[in-house]
Amino acid sequence: MKPVSFGVVGVGGYAKAHIYAVETLEKEGLGKLSAVVVRNPDKYRSAVEHLTERGVRIYRSYEDMLGEEADRIEVVTLPVGIPYHKEMTIAALEAGFNVIVEKPPAVTIQDIDEMLKAERESSRFCAVGFQSQSENTVRTLKRRICEGRLGEIREVVVKGRWKRLDSYYERNAWAGKFMHNGRYVLDGTICNPLAHYLMNGLYFASTEWGEAANPVRVRAELYRGHRIEGEDTSCLEVETEGGSMIYFFATLCAPRNERPHHEIVGSEGVARWTTGGDVYIEYRNGESEVIRYDERSGRVELFRNAARYLRGVDGELNCPLELTRPFVLALNGAYESSGTIRSIPEEHLIIREEEGSISTTINNIVEIIDEAFRQRRLYSDLGVEWAHPTEYFDLRGYRSFNMRL
Ligand SMILES: NC(=O)c1ccc[n+]([C@@H]2O[C@H](COP(=O)([O-])OP(=O)(O)OC[C@H]3O[C@@H](n4cnc5c(N)ncnc54)[C@H](OP(=O)(O)O)[C@@H]3O)[C@@H](O)[C@H]2O)c1
Repeated sequence: MKPVSFGVVGVGGYAKAHIYAVETLEKEGLGKLSAVVVRNPDKYRSAVEHLTERGVRIYRSYEDMLGEEADRIEVVTLPVGIPYHKEMTIAALEAGFNVIVEKPPAVTIQDIDEMLKAERESSRFCAVGFQSQSENTVRTLKRRICEGRLGEIREVVVKGRWKRLDSYYERNAWAGKFMHNGRYVLDGTICNPLAHYLMNGLYFASTEWGEAANPVRVRAELYRGHRIEGEDTSCLEVETEGGSMIYFFATLCAPRNERPHHEIVGSEGVARWTTGGDVYIEYRNGESEVIRYDERSGRVELFRNAARYLRGVDGELNCPLELTRPFVLALNGAYESSGTIRSIPEEHLIIREEEGSISTTINNIVEIIDEAFRQRRLYSDLGVEWAHPTEYFDLRGYRSFNMRL
């Protein structure tokens, strides 16, 4: 296979993971890091030196790279801030490049629809950086679901508890924001760090290969423990077209980081998967199965899949843009249902200095999420003191997100 040439935008933040993925492919002769955009070379002097020595072309602006690399780069990768995903993806597709854009692909349904239109009108593809869809555990479990081994999927329940210090929100201008420079960011558990697990919920809820279940209505509650504009604690109940339910419980105000956990309940079996581990399935007929994790990084596999797809070796993308539309719909539905983001009163928080920054922990959040997960009930349904009940929001025919806080 002729190596695929990549152009990465950025060298800081998550751009490091993109560069690492391309370098891994390069070692295997499948890819080549051809160009990188570094808008602040003084900030990244040693990285720029290292890349230049290796013959990587450095550009000061995205527009310059798109203009100069038309016949050289085949895939542009966008590990950039959430508010820029849409316009930078469309610019690359229109200029004739294939794209890998980070998750979330977009934050509003109107934006992802515009991106899908641009993709259809180009003869190029757009893959999304939801890397779970490139892991062997997730793909094999999805295969079992599509083979009907778990029967009708009734519920997918996910929980994610991470701890983020204030320094996490200080790393760039858009972190923790609902809006930034007049654009939606919706940064929070659902849209950013724990987005993978809502995406997985929708993916496992559909019995069609290559599809995620389409949400028809959502009931959700959004909260903040940190003194930020966005949410850092959420719970969602998503009803899908096929009738299966997805429950999502998440926080960034946990006492420690835990690996997110998934439970998929079908009429013929139950599967359990903790991220980074094996999948355990118990079938109703008494059989059981373990899907062993092959330890291959989904982040690298996602790039390998894009390269192989481009060369016609893989027949499909693991996470094409179209697959992620139900995620954006559920995300918008969650905000519409919650109507606002509620601050958790300080009496329910433990705020203290830690590692040169500040940590914020919600009292009993581990127990609250475990109970919500067990009962498949939102925080207000459980009677949690700081929680407020919300109504279902209907997503049928939903075309535009315009909410203000
Ligand atoms: N898949 C995953 O597991 C995963 C994990 C983490 C993050 N992400 C995603 O990755 C994306 C980036 O997140 P982040 O937290 O790393 O963001 P960030 O802190 O804003 O960093 C983005 C990087 O891109 C550069 N950049 C942004 N726009 C640019 C432009 N127009 N031209 C040149 N360089 C540009 C920035 O350069 P400067 O430093 O010069 O500003 C920085 O190096 C987000 O979509 C996030 O959701 C995904």
